[in-house]
Amino acid sequence: MKNIVITGGAGFIGSHVVRLFVNKYPEYNIINLDKLTYAGNLANLKDIENKPNYKFVKMDICDFEAFYQLMQDEKIDGIIHLAAESHVDRSIKDPFTFARTNVMGTLSLLQAAKLYWESLPEKYEGKRFYHISTDEVYGALEMTHPEGVEPPFTTTASSTEHHLAYGTEFFYETTKYNPHSPYSAAKASSDHFVRAYHDTYGMPTIVTNCSNNYGPYQFPEKLIPLFINNIRHRKPLPVYGKGENVRDWLYVEDHARAIDIIFHNGKIAETYNIGGFNEWKNIDLIKVMIKTVDRLLGNPEGSSEELITYVTDRAGHDLRYAIDSTKLQKELGWEPSLQFEEGIEKTVRWYLDNQEWMDNITSGEYEKYYEEMYKGR
Ligand code: NAD
Ligand code: TYD
Repeated sequence: MKNIVITGGAGFIGSHVVRLFVNKYPEYNIINLDKLTYAGNLANLKDIENKPNYKFVKMDICDFEAFYQLMQDEKIDGIIHLAAESHVDRSIKDPFTFARTNVMGTLSLLQAAKLYWESLPEKYEGKRFYHISTDEVYGALEMTHPEGVEPPFTTTASSTEHHLAYGTEFFYETTKYNPHSPYSAAKASSDHFVRAYHDTYGMPTIVTNCSNNYGPYQFPEKLIPLFINNIRHRKPLPVYGKGENVRDWLYVEDHARAIDIIFHNGKIAETYNIGGFNEWKNIDLIKVMIKTVDRLLGNPEGSSEELITYVTDRAGHDLRYAIDSTKLQKELGWEPSLQFEEGIEKTVRWYLDNQEWMDNITSGEYEKYYEEMYKGR
């Protein structure tokens, strides 16, 4: 495989995937295709933008004609598809945009790839359509626990390692889809289309479902960068509901490494779950962030806890996500490289060291959006 399109490469996870591929595979031509919505930012890729094997193309994934032309002009062999609307709160306010981009955009890419690849003498030989999805399509898990044991408890039930869990059930590759938010409903729908293109036309597709990512270059509407930035500015930290919801966190570079391994070695038509067995209750995670930011800024320890503000819960707020990634670990030998405390320390340091990046994003339009989003909460 030589010519690879990475969609959404100017976003959070996409920029890490583009960086990894451009640096690791000088023999590949990497095309970053991105519409540059509010979430796309070419400043995320400053360090690799002049590499000879990298090219940026500004394009909407819904533009079928333009993408079909690009497939032909660039003789595309592989697609790694990350472009999406990705924020649950936005999807609650504006579900149409999510259906357009996540569903119709994905379908448009699939159909263009099908037409181009089927026109070649080798057809689908050596080709790949790799779709990046989320654990949120599986729905929400309960906080069930063995009798007499309070969560979090140590379990070996679903992994090779001991880890702390908030429930006895996990998301497996076989778990039935049960999305609750417009975001996850749109992602679920796009996953179904990708699988349908394999089953109907024989397209070599792969789907992966990953847990919550954190790390550098994440847009500051998501919990971790938002709270780091608010602590720095001594602004309120809006905790939804009681802060009891559980998320399973993975360092973004570990996700990018998994994508590399799966793109090259994953089995066609398979699904792989990606996650680090790292469940945190929001409020506990927030306290770790506060402690870390306070220490690094030289504030008295824990002094920013006074910024915690409990606000109206998110509508349809999923209680718990927990990914079982045993299949990926066993079959393809991937494992997360960082302990969470290390990852959080690295992440907080990055945001504090890159305040200009943050200030550029949070000025102007975004400031207005943020005020609107949190008005009356
Ligand atoms: P992000 O919002 O940071 O980036 C999305 C990127 O897609 C942006 O660069 C944006 O400009 C681009 N984009 C949006 N609409 C487009 C369109 N119509 N045409 C072309 N480009 C468009 O998102 P992210 O957090 O990096 O997530 C990337 C992918 O990974 C998404 O598909 C998301 O569902 C999935 N995912 C995210 C997480 C997470 O924790 N962030 C976890 C699992 C899976
Ligand atoms: P988020 O980063 O939006 O990711 P997702 O909704 O995809 O899991 O939110 C992570 C968790 O943090 C989720 O349970 C919602 C909660 N949250 C807050 O409590 N306050 C906030 O301001 C945000 C953005 C999220």
